[in-house]
Amino acid sequence: MSFSPTSILVTGGAGFIGSNFIHSFSANNPACRITNLDALTYAGNLKNLTAIADNARYRFVKGDIGDAALVSELLTQEKVDAVVHFAAESHVDRSITGPEIFIRTNVLGSQILLEESRKHWQAGIVADFRFLQISTDEVYGSLGDSGYFTEETPLAANSPYSASKAGADLLVRAYHETFGMPTLNTRCSNNYGPYHFPEKLIPLMIHNIINKRPLPVYGDGLNIRDWLHVGDHAAAIEVVLKTACPGSVYNIGGNNEWKNIDIVNLVCDLLDARLHRVAGENRKLITFVKDRPGHDRRYAIDASRLKRDLGWEPAYTFESGITETIDWYLAHQEWVADVTSGAYRTYYENQYGGRS
Ligand code: NAD
Ligand code: DAU
Repeated sequence: MSFSPTSILVTGGAGFIGSNFIHSFSANNPACRITNLDALTYAGNLKNLTAIADNARYRFVKGDIGDAALVSELLTQEKVDAVVHFAAESHVDRSITGPEIFIRTNVLGSQILLEESRKHWQAGIVADFRFLQISTDEVYGSLGDSGYFTEETPLAANSPYSASKAGADLLVRAYHETFGMPTLNTRCSNNYGPYHFPEKLIPLMIHNIINKRPLPVYGDGLNIRDWLHVGDHAAAIEVVLKTACPGSVYNIGGNNEWKNIDIVNLVCDLLDARLHRVAGENRKLITFVKDRPGHDRRYAIDASRLKRDLGWEPAYTFESGITETIDWYLAHQEWVADVTSGAYRTYYENQYGGRS
């Protein structure tokens, strides 16, 4: 199966993964138009896209995926032949303290985007069409000490965030089954890399270490996540978009499981050296805090279908990816200061009593 998009609508392109995808996709596909629809919530930042802002084939539109009229207008105006749907509320902790916006954006917003895409696709303005839903391994729930999530693992979401993503995945499936719409669905493990918002584990730890603030580790610190560099995720999405059969689902992951406490120790040690601190100094900042309610114990992705069918494999080793990421944060402290001001600061202070 081969599909060459000429005009893509990226939703949530001002966020972490969406902005990384826009940079790599535009470099690999210089003739393709890219329209970026993003509501610029606390997690969206146009400074992630400075390097592409003046590119004649790129257009940014501030708006909500739940605005049917706007979505319809963009699809028609730009003759969009592929929607790559990143826009979401993405932070599990926020979904526990305020689930409603997760349902509004991740479920209702996705449904509106799907419905406008269906009308556009059925209008026959474009020769071929794809709707790619960017999802997460969290829809599968939690694993015990062994085993992996495959694409056949039943959905068993445990947090309001993952339930909202599972809801959207089922709608995507329904649009394929009911209308024959050419949808695709990817489910990726935890990403890390540049432009990662410092509310998530790795960038939060980097940010707090630099500022000598406590490093909150939830529960016993033994929960396991499977980490993939965001550049590898972006490459996998492009491969799926261009070569996967409509209706298919692909897991994306790099076989890179880490206990949270081991990741935190690693980041502490790498930063001891870079910040010229005594070996072991940063580890003293680690503070075990109350566990996340419903905290999934272990995620581990079996991405063998993606390798077998479409030939994708991660290019980064974790060693190179994590050192590059730490160096990126050290070199982009202005970006960090910018995104951690305002609404984010208020949220974090409410969570941790003023230790942002
Ligand atoms: P993010 O929070 O960094 O970015 C989300 C973006 O969506 C922001 O730019 C925000 O402004 C935008 N947005 C939010 N609501 C919107 C709305 N109603 N209309 C338009 N734009 C809106 O998220 P991320 O970490 O980049 O994740 C992107 C996608 O990838 C999400 O769908 C997430 O579920 C999925 N995912 C993330 C990871 C991960 O490790 N971060 C892993 C697998 C899958
Ligand atoms: O697995 C993919 C998912 O990964 C994505 O779908 C989500 O959008 C993304 O946010 C991420 O979810 P997690 O909950 O796994 O990521 P987070 O960085 O919030 O937490 C990673 C682990 O670290 C988790 O076990 C909770 C723990 N943690 C997190 C934070 C923020 C801590 O111990 N302390 C912290 O301060």
